[in-house]
Amino acid sequence: MDKRTFRYFALLRKMNPYLEGKVLDFGCGDGSITSVFIPLNSKNNFFAYDGPETGEHDVKNMLSQAKILLKNRANVIERKEYLQEGYFDVITLICMLHGNENIIEECHPYLKKGGHLIILDHDKSHLTDEDYIESIADADLKEIMQRNYNDVLRDHTRMDLYDCCRITRGMRYKTVKTLNHRTLDGFPFYLCISQKN
Ligand SMILES: C[S@@+](CC[C@H](N)C(=O)[O-])C[C@H]1O[C@@H](n2cnc3c(N)ncnc32)[C@H](O)[C@@H]1O
Repeated sequence: MDKRTFRYFALLRKMNPYLEGKVLDFGCGDGSITSVFIPLNSKNNFFAYDGPETGEHDVKNMLSQAKILLKNRANVIERKEYLQEGYFDVITLICMLHGNENIIEECHPYLKKGGHLIILDHDKSHLTDEDYIESIADADLKEIMQRNYNDVLRDHTRMDLYDCCRITRGMRYKTVKTLNHRTLDGFPFYLCISQKN
């Protein structure tokens, strides 16, 4: 594991105090990030969803990997219609908002009233070109190989904590906890935890 990915995992652990009750990782991809923040033998409480509805061409393949990786840890859900409305105490959106500002609206029905929405995403818009290149971790490199450098650069510098709070507050969520690159020693991610009214 490279140094920055390790620090990313440290950030994921900051979510831990909020991971209570039924937790859904919305847009889990291959489950590699999900697997970092869920405990072992927690299959009754943890759920991970990605689906063919997303239009991503390799969702089927990613979900097969997620099932292997999350075995005994989480229930992997493959279709949106299998998600129950108002069922989840917590929904996590990991690196999801920068690609789709409507994603909160999409997962909103599945979160209980009073439940927590945890958003973790790239916070790189303040970086110089040099610092941006320096911030590229193994996971980013994989994405750059799959897509291309400029598209990833655009997406990873698109939004910051302020934009995230603007969207969640616009949906009447109450902000509970926020961290950005400044409060994370320059670590280029933000974390925004908010509560559904
Ligand atoms: C950038 S990846 C993030 C994956 C994972 N959360 C992570 O951090 O490694 C985006 C993932 O979100 C999924 N996705 C995109 N739009 C979605 C939607 N509307 N509903 C559910 N999943 C979606 C894609 O299939 C893809 O697996």
